[in-house]
Amino acid sequence: MHDGYNRQINYLRVSVTDRCNFRCAYCMPEQGVKLLSHADILTYEELLRIIRVVSGHGVSKIRLTGGEPLVRRGIVSFIRSIANLKTITDISLTTNGSLLAGMAAKLKNAGLNRVNISLDTVDPDQFRKITYGGDLAKTMDGLKSALAAGLTPLKLNVVLTNIITERDLTYFVDLVHREPISVRFIEYMPIGESQVCAGPGIEEIKGIINAFGRGTLKPTLNIQGNGPAKYFYLPQAKGTFGFITPISEHFCNVCNRIRLTADGKFKPCLLSNQELDVKAALRQGASDIEIAELFYKTITDKPQGHTLANAGGQTKFFRQMSQIGG
Ligand code: GTP
Ligand code: 5AD
Ligand code: SF4
Repeated sequence: MHDGYNRQINYLRVSVTDRCNFRCAYCMPEQGVKLLSHADILTYEELLRIIRVVSGHGVSKIRLTGGEPLVRRGIVSFIRSIANLKTITDISLTTNGSLLAGMAAKLKNAGLNRVNISLDTVDPDQFRKITYGGDLAKTMDGLKSALAAGLTPLKLNVVLTNIITERDLTYFVDLVHREPISVRFIEYMPIGESQVCAGPGIEEIKGIINAFGRGTLKPTLNIQGNGPAKYFYLPQAKGTFGFITPISEHFCNVCNRIRLTADGKFKPCLLSNQELDVKAALRQGASDIEIAELFYKTITDKPQGHTLANAGGQTKFFRQMSQIGG
């Protein structure tokens, strides 16, 4: 399925919950957000029906997000039911990693292919601050368990804020030499009421990595994953570095995705307030064809690109990042 700008839409990001056991500073305000009621959240049956319908119209890749997707009960069985849809060829999950240690093997057995884990710093105190109480050791255990369970290729998401230090970068450079992990640096997107100080730019990070004396970053030729990151390697490293640049060099021209929020709205773009209410349609007895029509309408509504940078930060976003799933 292609949209009006010849972009192939084959990827649905499904937010299964707006709840999270962290409160990352770049993702939601310090006081948290008003949570959805149980009745507002799509049931697993409803989610599965939407996934089944859109998988008949070109979607073959599903990413589960939150909030934190692993806090929703029944997630393992839900993943098993997605994996049973033979039209879906890639199931991935974005997580803060804190609950992964006890779940990684079960998730893999259920049919989850891979995980992306948020890890913004390896300093336990800074980690606790930016996540609002998170325990770095738990996320690290989650990372080890995910690797051991074969939830690979495994990627780390590092949002660039002012807490990142040379010590973090030293750790990440060593890590990609030791493990086949991709460490991705992400430009902070100022949406919602999140308040962080943006950190170093992508070019600065590349310069610092190059100055470690372990070779110069070179672009990889193979495509890794389905997302917007551009990947680079160092000569002796098992893993790679990735750079996600929604601000300095946006990638809207190759966007392949639609989002489904936990409260049942299709979103054509992360950085737009447009939404279509698929939950209301479902609960009013919509047929599969009517659900597919809403999906087509979402694709038709997909903007050519976001306006975050050129609006000078003036756009008022109705949702926090945690209510969309990134
Ligand atoms: P894979 O490449 O398939 O592993 O996934 P991904 O990188 O698309 O997913 P992930 O959930 O790990 O997201 C990484 C970062 O990219 C997060 O900061 C997301 O907010 C951001 N991101 C993902 N999709 C989009 C998008 O369509 N637009 C923008 N601006 N940012 C996005
Ligand atoms: N800017 C950039 N990335 C963000 N994420 C959450 N909020 C933001 C933001 N404001 C990332 C998290 C997580 C992914 C789902 O989105 O790091 O890994
Ligand atoms: Fe929770 Fe993820 Fe948002 Fe952090 S980025 S508050 S872990 S949803």
